[in-house]
Amino acid sequence: MNHFSKQAPVQIVLVEEGSNFSSTVGGWAKNKHFAHLDIGIIASHICLAATDEGLGSCMLGWCDEGKVRKTLEIPKNKRVILVILLGYTTQPIHEKKRKMINEIVSFDKY
Ligand SMILES: Cc1cc2nc3c(=O)[nH]c(=O)nc-3n(C[C@H](O)[C@H](O)[C@H](O)COP(=O)(O)O)c2cc1C
Repeated sequence: MNHFSKQAPVQIVLVEEGSNFSSTVGGWAKNKHFAHLDIGIIASHICLAATDEGLGSCMLGWCDEGKVRKTLEIPKNKRVILVILLGYTTQPIHEKKRKMINEIVSFDKY
């Protein structure tokens, strides 16, 4: 995990739980893993809410899942999908370099 993760006072660990019937069947039929979409939605809401509260946040998918699981006594059959760090940022937020909207959105055809 990144060195700054040790400085973050709050770390939220997002754990994948078993899906309900419709999500399981729908995911199987459409070959899509809806649980990961759900976790992505939750993660973005957490980060947006944190920003609204004046906090900084950072999503980390690259973590030592075994260690996190052991530390928090998460059962072995559960996946740790994301860790979200929260805290007050010590550095000014740098200007984001983002793609132009026409690079990521298309109309009528791909
Ligand atoms: C789902 C997801 C997982 C991420 N996992 C990691 C990670 O494990 N390690 C890391 O250094 N950055 C990771 N990042 C990137 C950072 O969270 C962050 O988005 C990136 O540093 C860009 O931040 P900025 O948009 O504020 O500049 C991940 C981002 C996302 C969206």
